[in-house]
Amino acid sequence: MKRVFSASMFIFLLTLLTGTSTVAAGKIGNFEIEGLISAASPMALISELEKKLEVNVVEINLKNTESGWPVFAIEFDPGQLSREDIEKTIATIEDPAGQKYKVHKGPPINNAAFTDEELKAMEIFAPTTPDIAKVTNPIASSDESLARGKEIFEINCSTCHGTNGSGQGPASHGITTFPRQLWSWYNTDSGTDAYLYWFITNGRNEMPPWGLILSDNERWDVINYVKTLKKPE
Ligand code: HEC
Repeated sequence: MKRVFSASMFIFLLTLLTGTSTVAAGKIGNFEIEGLISAASPMALISELEKKLEVNVVEINLKNTESGWPVFAIEFDPGQLSREDIEKTIATIEDPAGQKYKVHKGPPINNAAFTDEELKAMEIFAPTTPDIAKVTNPIASSDESLARGKEIFEINCSTCHGTNGSGQGPASHGITTFPRQLWSWYNTDSGTDAYLYWFITNGRNEMPPWGLILSDNERWDVINYVKTLKKPE
């Protein structure tokens, strides 16, 4: 299995995160992060780090960085925190697959083989994780939910999936994995909710991990809406 967080839309999408600023005046430092195993990893790291310290993760660059490691641009107040404080805190946080993160120091290791530890962690976070089966949709597919879902879809999803769910939105030309027709989910019952929630939350290949951008409820609203997208006759 290769690393799954290759979404080229990441940088663009993550600039949306900066709306939740908690740091008054900040310096931005680049941190190279080791230990990102799954598509859920950047999300977990950001939320834990921002919970533990007064920092904002303002940008993530997962691809083609100079060192080969993903680079997190982190804003902090140098009067309150040092680089070392941030590095130490990152080292206390665990990837959802159970491996510790750390800040990379030293030469680039592009194309280095995965360590046994990394391979083990990837296995734990395989798509068959039992977590997929556990969630149930708390939001009924009411007119209100569908109206919210439609708006969320048109802003966030239609560029790739098309406004009608055809998978042929304007941005689908430039990407290597086909953004799927969403019609296959038309009118499906609650049995598909957990999969849709998991997929939309974590993303895969060029499908961004919406758990970073949309709230839980917004993701459920958009799932309700996706289930109304029908293949034109
Ligand atoms: C940058 C382009 C892009 C955007 C924006 C995007 N997607 Fe996707 N989506 C994809 C790609 C590419 C895939 C297929 C990924 C794969 O198969 O590995 C996909 C797959 C999916 C799937 C899985 C379908 C299946 O049959 O398994 C769902 C559901 C989905 N997207 C919903 C959404 C929703 C909802 C949004 C908006 C919140 C969204 N997508 C935004 C590119 C995108």
